[in-house]
Amino acid sequence: MNIASIKIVGARNLVSCDLDFGSRFNVLSGENGQGKTNLIEMLYLIGTLRSFRAKNIRELIQFEQEQLYIKASVEKDASEHNYTVIVSETGRKAYHDDKFVRSITKYCRDMRIVLFTPEDLRVVRGSPSDRRRFLDRAVYGWNEGYLSAVQSYDKVLRSRNSLLRDPSPMLDLLDVYDVKLASLGSEIIQWRCEYLNELLNGYQKAFYAINQSDAKTVAFSYESSVSPDLLKTPEQIEPFLHHLLHEKRGEDQHRGSTSIGPHRDDLIFCFDGRNAFSFASQGQLRAMVLAWKTGEMNLLGKKHGDWPLLLLDDVSSELDPARNEYLFQFLRTTSSQCFITTTHSDHVLLDDDRIDFTVSNGVVSRQD
Ligand SMILES: Nc1ncnc2c1ncn2[C@@H]1O[C@H](COP(=O)(O)OP(=O)(O)O)[C@@H](O)[C@H]1O
Ligand SMILES: [Mg+2]
Repeated sequence: MNIASIKIVGARNLVSCDLDFGSRFNVLSGENGQGKTNLIEMLYLIGTLRSFRAKNIRELIQFEQEQLYIKASVEKDASEHNYTVIVSETGRKAYHDDKFVRSITKYCRDMRIVLFTPEDLRVVRGSPSDRRRFLDRAVYGWNEGYLSAVQSYDKVLRSRNSLLRDPSPMLDLLDVYDVKLASLGSEIIQWRCEYLNELLNGYQKAFYAINQSDAKTVAFSYESSVSPDLLKTPEQIEPFLHHLLHEKRGEDQHRGSTSIGPHRDDLIFCFDGRNAFSFASQGQLRAMVLAWKTGEMNLLGKKHGDWPLLLLDDVSSELDPARNEYLFQFLRTTSSQCFITTTHSDHVLLDDDRIDFTVSNGVVSRQD
């Protein structure tokens, strides 16, 4: 799958544009603050209907404008389809081949995007919510039903939390929410653990390839209110969560929020049997994230028989030369369409199949 062309109007600082892309490496160079990440954000939006940095999607609309319009022409299996996203004050609307699509899952079905940003490189030492978001983003692309399970879970969680804060809550309704949360929560936990299991082997191989001099073992640990033993027996997760929600209800009412469930879980990167957060060096931490991202691409490529599209936002300047070389060597072995932003085009170690763009003051220009 690749984005052959895109039209963007009214997005952040980007001047309205019509761009044709190459099917392999599209390199976007420019100084800081010119609009490179904004363009990556729009590509991410057209593929996932979400932003990776705005809390509210309306932030993507250009100041003083009423709406943001993006239309992309996507090539897949020798046919061409268009995808349109319009964001206005009333929210976001999505169209596939000019037909309105209500379901985000339906819209995203054929789009697979891997995003890799400098924030990802810091995720091991970031907050648990950063790590959950990092993991969730990977699982969204992997499992079609995952996004809608997470959205439903969040909705029930918000309802339960507001009911917990009610001085005289309807207990029957809390019972209903507990049943739903346990069921959706158990699905989410299972999919996350399944994903980590699938990823582990490729992740370890990539880590050793990147850190050849380092014989340390790396792994993941999913930290949850569900014990590791129970995580191995998926059918027991739901009744356990249900039991725990019931048991913690009084405590949760006191604090006004739900204290257990996948929204509180964490992904631990292990290094030599310990939490990498405390024991791995900066370079090793970055190698772990790089290994994750190459593993994520490999998994999607294998599962769907088609490489995902890669959005690589200014990552090279944060990697040392050897790891940067590894990254580009890996990308050359794939057939992914890649969008690579950089402030230093000499960090982009690519000679062939490459189209260059400059981004300056919101103007994106193709260099021929
Ligand atoms: N909604 C918006 N409308 C207009 N300009 C915006 C909007 N949001 C951000 N910007 C501008 O976009 C620029 C940052 O662009 P960005 O893509 O992050 O730069 P970089 O090239 O460093 O990645 C800033 O100048 C910021 O003021
Ligand atoms: Mg940027």
